[in-house]
Formats: sequence, structure tokens, C-alpha cells
Amino acid sequence: MNIQEQNIDTLPYQSGFGNELASEALPGALPIGQNSPQKVPYGLYTELLSGTAFTVPRSDARRTWLYRIRPSANHPRYERLDRQLVHGGLGAVTPNRLRWNPAGMPGTPTDFIDGLECLTATHDAQQASGVSVYRYAANASMERVFFNADGELLVVPQEGRLRIVTELGILQIEPLEIAVLPRGMRFRVELIDDTAKGYVCENHGCVLRLPDLGPIGSNGLANPRDFLAPVARYEEYDEATPLVQKYLGELWATTLDHSPLDVVAWHGNNVPYKYDLRRFNTIGTVSFDHPDPSIFTVLTSPGTTPGMANVDFVIFPPRWMVAENTFRPPWFHRNLMNEFMGLIQGAYDAKAEGFSPGGASLHSCMSAHGPDHVSTSQAISAVLKPHKIENTMAFMFETGCVLRPTRHALETPSLQANYDACWSGLAKTFNKQGGLT
Ligand SMILES: [Fe+2]
Repeated sequence: MNIQEQNIDTLPYQSGFGNELASEALPGALPIGQNSPQKVPYGLYTELLSGTAFTVPRSDARRTWLYRIRPSANHPRYERLDRQLVHGGLGAVTPNRLRWNPAGMPGTPTDFIDGLECLTATHDAQQASGVSVYRYAANASMERVFFNADGELLVVPQEGRLRIVTELGILQIEPLEIAVLPRGMRFRVELIDDTAKGYVCENHGCVLRLPDLGPIGSNGLANPRDFLAPVARYEEYDEATPLVQKYLGELWATTLDHSPLDVVAWHGNNVPYKYDLRRFNTIGTVSFDHPDPSIFTVLTSPGTTPGMANVDFVIFPPRWMVAENTFRPPWFHRNLMNEFMGLIQGAYDAKAEGFSPGGASLHSCMSAHGPDHVSTSQAISAVLKPHKIENTMAFMFETGCVLRPTRHALETPSLQANYDACWSGLAKTFNKQGGLT
């Protein structure tokens, strides 16, 4: 067995977003001047992993050339597993607002894949558009390798560090960092701590990219150089290794006689990457009113209608609140887009209670929501001095497609019975004689 070891405390990374990167774990392994030479150095095989159709505009194209010990085609037949991830399946359609308490930790050894619980999805086993949203709770490292044919995976840890061993190298992430794993990329999730919990957005649509900045200019929000890709690192062993894939919502497994993580060199822009949410350059009002949450967009997957995203990944980080004469929490609203919210740490400024780290909420198209009655009355009576919201990190997966809860999400004990009550205390303060009170 030959596994190239790396010190996880000083893992090397490459910086940049969407640009061409290159890495080799052995000197001279990367062919120079062409992608697919007749003979590859070290006797490696050439393989292409594409993340977009070949004919998309060059600025949208994602693909990576892999130079590996065995081509991925060298595998036995896949057999369908009994367990289905999403399509165990979608539950009844509901326009109601839903909220879940944090998930518990499984009582038996459970890896990242078995620890996924799907709460909501836009479609029933479809992969061309929309998203599926999961929480995970794991207490064991994967002893198998996984890839997802149905979309890219945005991993948002809430508790515990993850060491994600991919074909292109290792990403290590902790809460307040995220990782994105391209569609089809093989990986193994290892726990660094005893347990790990978090969220996953499975993006079935266009690959995630940085949002346009418009009048903000050429800097701000998530800056490209803060996105980090791994460097090449390979495993060389000839032992039985389970390989599982998700394909149209179902899990299929085969067993290789070698490690599928055997890429010695690679170059391209279809790569796994990580990002530290603490590096987000948060922008907000310095005059009055509460801006639209689009200013908090970290990554976006465009939809087919201009401006209507397949999914936006939006965060609510620590920030100064300085708006004058303003109701500072998010306003009451009814949006076209569908909002899945999670909380990584601290409290969210629009909810006084009931929305805990690890919890989740779903506000679908045109469902009326906003701050709860306690946060509302506090905001109306607050003395408006500059105030910093500290120790917080909420996020939103916001999609133009309606999110349907799964049957599991509607039946799990973590579903709160009376989420609506957080708004029922909104008192009538209207006074026809009154004016400002
Ligand atoms: Fe909202």
C-alpha cells in the first residue's frame, strides 16, 4: 500500500475561483503542452471529468484532465442498494411554513453518506435543475468512496471538522467553512472529531459560481482568491474498496480492487474547493433601510430566467447595524423565491427563540414571514445606536423552484408542531387617531 501522506494541519492549497489550476504529486507527472499524449509519464492513464456540456460558452466551461493509475472505467457492475436518499420520497405539498429542531446523533456507527437526511427537494429524482437539501449527522469516517451523478454538493459544517479526501487531493473544513464537490468527483469523508453535523445543498442545475457585483465594482462579497482547491495526492493500493454512487436519487454500489483515489496529476477548473465564510466582505447600508439579502450572496447557480437563480447560497455573518430611523431586522415579506435557512452558530437576528444552531426552516414561494413577534417589538422600541451583531452565522439556500418537504421531513420528531405561533403574538398597534406612537 502506498498512500502519499500529508500533514493535515498544514495542507497545501491552490487559490482562485474557476481558473485553470494544475498539480502533480510526482515530479513530471503532468504532461506538458498537450492533454492526452500517447504515453503519459509514469505509465498513467488520461481521463477527462467534465462539469459542463462541451459547447457552453468558454467562460462557463468546467473540466479537468486526470492522470491516474487506473481509469475510472475499470470497475465491475453496480448493484442498486436498498436505501434511497431523496426518493424515499417527497411528501405532501404544503404552503405552510416549517421549522425543524437540530437533528440528533445516530446511536450506531454512521458515516457521512448514511448520516444524510433529506429535508426538502425541488423535484422527484431529477438532475437537470433545482436542488435537494440535506442535514447530516455522522459519528464514523467513511470506509468507502462516494460520488454523486445527480449534482454538485455544497457542504456546510455546523459541528465537527471534516477531512474530505477527493480524487484531486484533500480539503479539510470546519464549521464556518464550506466545501463544494463537483458532480461526479469521487471522495471519502473522514471525521477529525468524534462526531460531525451540518447541511448539504445538492445543486442539480448550473454549477455554482461567484455572483456578478454590478455597481459594487470589482471587489467585495466573496473574493476569488479566498477559494482554495487541493493539490494532487494519490492512493496506490490493490485492496477491495466499496464505491457508491448516487444516480437519479438512488444509491448504487460496486467494489473495486484498488483505490479510486489514484489521481497522480491533474489540471483544469472542475475542482473541489473550500471557502472560509469569515473572509466574506459583508456589505450593508450606511444610511437607512434594510437592503435585499442578495448583498449576502456567496455563490450562485443561475436559472434559465435572468435574475432568478436555480440556487443562491446566502449568509448572514457578524456585521455592524448602523441604519438610522429604520426597522433593522429583515422586513416582513412574501417572496417569489423559496428559502431554506440553517444556522451554524449563535442566533439569527429575526428570531428570538426556536431557531437553534443545527435547526432549519422552510419558507416557500409567497409564504408570509419575517421577524417573530418578540424580535419585532424589540426592533420597534430599540434605541438606534451603531450595534454589532456578533457570534452569528445563519445561511440560506434560496431557489426559484418550489421546495417540497420529504415524507421524512414531515414525520420526523424534529419538526416543530406550531411554528406559526412565533408570529401570532404580533399585536394590533393601529391607532386611527394616532399618527406615530
Ligand atoms: Fe425570507
